[in-house]
Amino acid sequence: MWVYLLLLMAPLVSAQTFSCGRCPDVTVQKTFDLQRYLGRWFEITKLPASFERGKCIEANYALRPDGTIQVLNKQMEEPGKLTPIEGTAVVKNQSEPAKLGVGFSYLSPVGTYWVLYTDYTSVAVVYSCTDIMRVFKVEFAWILARNRTLSMETRARAEAELQRAGVKLCQLIPTDQTGCDLNTL
Ligand SMILES: *[C@@H]1O[C@H](CO)[C@@H](O)[C@H](O)[C@H]1NC(C)=O
Ligand SMILES: *[C@@H]1O[C@H](CO)[C@@H](O)[C@H](O)[C@H]1NC(C)=O
Repeated sequence: MWVYLLLLMAPLVSAQTFSCGRCPDVTVQKTFDLQRYLGRWFEITKLPASFERGKCIEANYALRPDGTIQVLNKQMEEPGKLTPIEGTAVVKNQSEPAKLGVGFSYLSPVGTYWVLYTDYTSVAVVYSCTDIMRVFKVEFAWILARNRTLSMETRARAEAELQRAGVKLCQLIPTDQTGCDLNTL
């Protein structure tokens, strides 16, 4: 049974951060202002994720008239070409506004998107964890910034937040944010 399950999940295992044990009970940003969080964010570093292979990765969050959040992610998989992917995020419980759910198609399950920390103007720390059969977990984590580069000081602050959630900093993969300006290519 377990062997079969592991084989099924092999593609997931190799590309995602997959480990035993249940998701940690992490605290999120206490007061979260979605309006200030909207807009453009650049990915600085992340835990490995199979759906993010390119460089110049950025996310754009916008409020839709129906109250859901449009998520427009872009990455450069070949020089000069930005590939977009659109998803939807929702605040599931208004009492916990920093805990969002996000999905990228009608078929894929809605994953968690928890904002652990943000100052809205320079940095955001996002953590996602999904329990699988109460035995394993799949984790994602991102440090996002309003600029393509982040000061050492702000980065250290953000990394401390990820460590608090149990993320091992040595597993983070920096995102290449160089050569991203389409006008200069
Ligand atoms: C919403 O969040 C509050 C605060 O954490 C919690 O007490 C409540 O049970 C949640 N409501 C639902 C429907 O999950
Ligand atoms: C973003 O980068 C520009 C140019 O490097 C710099 O002038 C600006 O202060 C940075 N902004 C933030 C919020 O770090």
